[in-house]
Order: sequence, then C-alpha cells, then structure tokens
Amino acid sequence: MRIITFGTFDVFHVGHVNILERAKSLGTELYVGISSDELNNSKKGRYPIYSQEDRMHIVSALSCVDFVFLEESLELKKDYIQQYQANMLVMGDDWQGKFDDMKLYCEVKYLPRTPSVSTTEIIEVVRHIPSNE
Ligand code: CTP
Repeated sequence: MRIITFGTFDVFHVGHVNILERAKSLGTELYVGISSDELNNSKKGRYPIYSQEDRMHIVSALSCVDFVFLEESLELKKDYIQQYQANMLVMGDDWQGKFDDMKLYCEVKYLPRTPSVSTTEIIEVVRHIPSNE
C-alpha cells in the first residue's frame, strides 16, 4: 500500500514529522512530493528559507519516508499519483475537501494538523526576537 503526500516542509518542525509518521502508518511505503522553490514563490509570494535541495535532503533522511520527488506544479497531483502508482493521497486537514477529485485515482484521506506550530509562525517568532546589539 503506497501512500503519497505533498508539502513544502520548510524550516522542518514537529507538525511535519507527525503528519509524515501518521501517513506512513496508513500503508507500507511513503512517497513525498516536495514543493519546488518556484512553486512556493508563485503560491505564497516568497521563496522558502531552505532550498528545495535541502528540504528534499531533510525529508528523505526520515526513517518513515521511502522516496521524495520535486512537486513543480499544483495542477499535476493526478499525474504524480499515477506516475508513482500511489494507492492513497494523504493531506493535512488545512486542505480538507480540496483534493476530493483525486478520489477518481486513489483513496484520499485528510489528517488533523498538529496544533500551534507552523513554518510561518516560526519565521515570525524568529523575526521578532530582539538582537543584543
Ligand atoms: N502540517 C501539520 N501540522 C502542522 C503544520 C503542517 O500536519 N502544524 C502538515 C500540513 O497539513 C501539510 C504538511 O504538514 O500536510 C506540510 O505542510 P507545510 O505547508 O509545508 O507546513 P506549514 O508549517 O503549514 O507551512 P506554512 O506555515 O508555510 O503554511
């Protein structure tokens, strides 16, 4: 049973590892699409802090992850699911309902997000730490 999921996984945090471990527990293999730097810039109007190469390196080093690939377009989910012969798409529930059309190609499951942590919030917290100078 091959699971596929997608995300930016920038400034890697505990919410990321939680969803990847829970996704893996639903099957036997976990494939992860890492959003490219360009895709993030077009989607969020800024480049990630960590490069796509480093984000792929970090996620691929996790014992629950079997394979990583670069996600270059949000429109290609169906193609990635078919190319990698995934049986189930897992997404955080911030995407609830958004990928229901993928049910034509595989099972789709939304998992609850880990509360009180996000990359955006970490960046904001770090940005506002006063310097000692
Ligand atoms: N995720 C989660 N719990 C969190 C944060 C993220 O389960 N607290 C999940 C998302 O639902 C997604 C995956 O981790 O399935 C990758 O999310 P990503 O957008 O890369 O992380 P965020 O921390 O949400 O990033 P941002 O603040 O930039 O949106």
